[in-house]
Order: sequence, then structure tokens, then C-alpha cells
Amino acid sequence: MVLLEAIEKRLLEELNPKVRLVLETGRYLIEGGGKRLRPLLTMLACGMCGGDPEDALPLGVGLEYIHAASLLHDDVVDGAKSRRGRESANLVFGNEVAVLTGDYMYAKALHLFSTYGNMEMIRLVSQAVMDMAEAQVLELSKVGELITEEEYFQIIEGKTAVLFGACVAVGGMAGGCTDKDTLYEIGLRMGRAFQLIDDLLDYVGDSKKTGKPVGNDLKEGKTTYPLLSVIDLLDRKEVEDLLSKLNPREEEIDSLRKKVVTLGGDKKTKERAMEELNVAKGLLSRFPESSYKEEILRIMDFVVLREL
Ligand code: FPP
Ligand code: MG
Repeated sequence: MVLLEAIEKRLLEELNPKVRLVLETGRYLIEGGGKRLRPLLTMLACGMCGGDPEDALPLGVGLEYIHAASLLHDDVVDGAKSRRGRESANLVFGNEVAVLTGDYMYAKALHLFSTYGNMEMIRLVSQAVMDMAEAQVLELSKVGELITEEEYFQIIEGKTAVLFGACVAVGGMAGGCTDKDTLYEIGLRMGRAFQLIDDLLDYVGDSKKTGKPVGNDLKEGKTTYPLLSVIDLLDRKEVEDLLSKLNPREEEIDSLRKKVVTLGGDKKTKERAMEELNVAKGLLSRFPESSYKEEILRIMDFVVLREL
């Protein structure tokens, strides 16, 4: 696909720090893979709104750098050992280098926005990053606790959905659209669906494909939607005890994980993700038909079908 090739090329071209170790660490993460959904959505939204998708390329690249920076930082925070099916950057280069390379990539993104974007875009994107950081702290503060559905949605909205919202809004604005709110909501709903499926994959995914071990969220004491969707059918006290354990046994985790699936937590999560996407599709219908819009619809279907 032409857009994807342009994205891959520009992602490597714009990453040009003077210090070799920053380049190596940044490249390690970028070359580790990723679906490039954020820059794709940015460019497609630009095309859908009547602009030339190429005009949104550096903005999409900036948004992918923000995503990359957040992963570098997240893996340090989580003490993760793997990312995208291989050793995480913090493991290979150390926490300090991973954090600082994340800082570099985040600043590079804002640099790209100040060169190719405008003030409204910078405001939107920096707000998204503030929301991400806040959501990460909220998630961290709730580790070991059984959280409410409201808290869960507050967390996933901040940590994932707002960046998708920013991608669609920035791309559409670059294409000349003034209805920023509708664009943002399309992305936001896609992002919620994306994180719901991500959380579902933690229960039923193939770890070879996702690059992450199954049952990891439970093990880390994190409540996600599959569990919440069936919590009334489970022994609440038992679940709370397991989530609060610092080093739960593998068998205990696996037993709860399997129970959640048997009770239909996987189906309920998929349905909830579909609801979000249906709202997004409804909003998308306000825009004229085009190949770009078709492609956004295909990405929406991919969000739910991936690795399942
Ligand atoms: C992965 O979540 C983490 C995120 C989606 C967001 C992380 C955001 C920050 C660290 C704050 C923003 C910082 C900058 C510099 C932009 P996860 O742990 O649920 O997913 P995983 O299993 O892929 O690690
Ligand atoms: Mg993580």
C-alpha cells in the first residue's frame, strides 16, 4: 500500500538525532513493527476531507512518534520485558536511555507539528498527551484494586482513545474540515474499541501473534472490561483478593482468566467494542463517499478482527 510505504520511509527519515544511542533506541522501537494505524488514520482523514493525504504525512509521523514515546515510557513504568514480540527497549538499552529517547521522540513530534501544523493542532495534540499521562497515573494508582466500569472507561479513553481522536481530527483539519469535534469523536470511539480488543486479547489472544503473554493484566492487578463484564457472576471477594496479590500463582490467574471466558466475558467485550465502532461508523456517514473513507471503514473492521 502506497500510504504505508510513505509512512515507513518518513518515520525513519525524520528520526535524525545527533547522538547515536538515541538513534539506535528510537529505531529499535520503530523497526520493531507496529500497524501504523495512527499515521494511516491521519492521512486518510485528510484525504476524506478533500485534502492531499501527503500533506498530513509529517503530522501522522509526529503522532506515531508520540505513540512510540508513550510505549518507551510505558515499558519502563510497567517493567516490561517484551514489546512487539521481542525484547523491550528498556531491557536492551536500560531504563534511563529508554525514557530519554521517549522524551526526544515526543519533542520531535511537537517540532514536526510546529513546522507542518498549526496552533489548534498543537493544542489538541498536547492535550491528548496530558490526558495520556494522567490516565497512566490513574491506572497505576488503581493497580491491585477492582475498579468500576466508569473508572475503566476513564483510563482507556485517556491512555489510548484520545490519541486516535487527535489523529482523525488533525488529519481532517489538514484536509480543510472545520468539524473538528465529529472527527475527534470518530477517532475516540475507534480508540475505545481498539483498547477494548487489546484488553480482550489479554484474555484470549495468541501470545505468538500479540507479542504479549496472556493473562498479563490480571497478573499485574489490572481490572479490564472482560472481567468487569462478568463480575456479577463471579465471587467478588475472591477476585479482589487475587488482584491485590503481589505475586499471584500462575494457576490462579489462569483459572480466573478461563472462568471469565467461560462466562462470556470475551463475547461481551467484543460486543462493547462493536457498539463503539457502530457509533463511529454513523458519524463517518456524514462525510462524502471516497476511497479514503472506505479505507477508514476497513481499519474499523480490522480493529475488531485482529488476531482473534
Ligand atoms: C500501553 O498500555 C500504554 C499506553 C497506551 C499509553 C502510555 C502513555 C504514557 C506513558 C504517557 C504519555 C507519554 C508520552 C511521552 C507521550 P498497556 O500497558 O495497557 O499496553 P501494553 O500491554 O501494550 O504495554
Ligand atoms: Mg504496558
